[in-house]
Amino acid sequence: MGRPENDLDLLRIRNETFLSEIVYFDEIASTNTEAMQLGKQDKLTLPTLVIASRQTAGRGRGDNSWWSAEGALTFTLLLDLPLATGQGVGPVSLTIGLAMCQALEEWLPRADIGLKWPNDVFIAGKKACGILVECPLPQASRLAIGIGVNVNNSLVTAPREMRQIATSMVDESGEPADVSRFLVTCLHRLEGRLRDHLESPASLMEQWRAYCLLTGREIAVETPGTTIAGRCVGIDDEGALLIDQGAQTQRCFAGVVRIR
Ligand code: BTN
Repeated sequence: MGRPENDLDLLRIRNETFLSEIVYFDEIASTNTEAMQLGKQDKLTLPTLVIASRQTAGRGRGDNSWWSAEGALTFTLLLDLPLATGQGVGPVSLTIGLAMCQALEEWLPRADIGLKWPNDVFIAGKKACGILVECPLPQASRLAIGIGVNVNNSLVTAPREMRQIATSMVDESGEPADVSRFLVTCLHRLEGRLRDHLESPASLMEQWRAYCLLTGREIAVETPGTTIAGRCVGIDDEGALLIDQGAQTQRCFAGVVRIR
């Protein structure tokens, strides 16, 4: 009998990628919560991957939770990335979203893959991957990059409301994927795009824009206390979402986007 899809090949993942360390759990509440604790330690070999076959309390952005059934990929990449001062994690979040679009595209070359700012990855108009970037230390250079991808967790039997908004790789391709090999692809893309982020950021901006699903759409960006509504006209060089309100164009650096 072959390996079950989610029986991860940790040796392969370690040998074929830039990782120094892998911390594996059969089951854990949240790989991000674990990485946030681990990331506070001084003596760490980075990059470290915290990965679990099952999460029982996966976290999403804001107060959202992240539900993932058997067959999903859930991991947090812990690394140091010297970000420009005052930049925050906004632009790097977009770069991570871009890397995940490219990883998915490599596996699903015929699929329609796009990025809903700041970093939700969609296939054929439905969410397939969520990203939660957090900082374990007060300085923003150490990052806990949490990524959840619906890989072999088909949503075919999920409630209708869920099927309308979410999809998985297996639902789009009709074939289960080898999760370890897909993870190696994700880590290669993340390594490449994060290097570009530091060394040639200008090369990324057109790529963010190429994948942007919101450009040309009527949207509202909600932050605690404000709502900015208008027509999205793209993403600027600093990663802000641009919203045309007629008299002026607003720049949004954070918020939850609703398509109107
Ligand atoms: C979102 O779309 O709101 C972000 C979802 C991020 C989910 C991933 S799964 C691995 C990592 N651990 C968590 O608890 N969350 C992230």
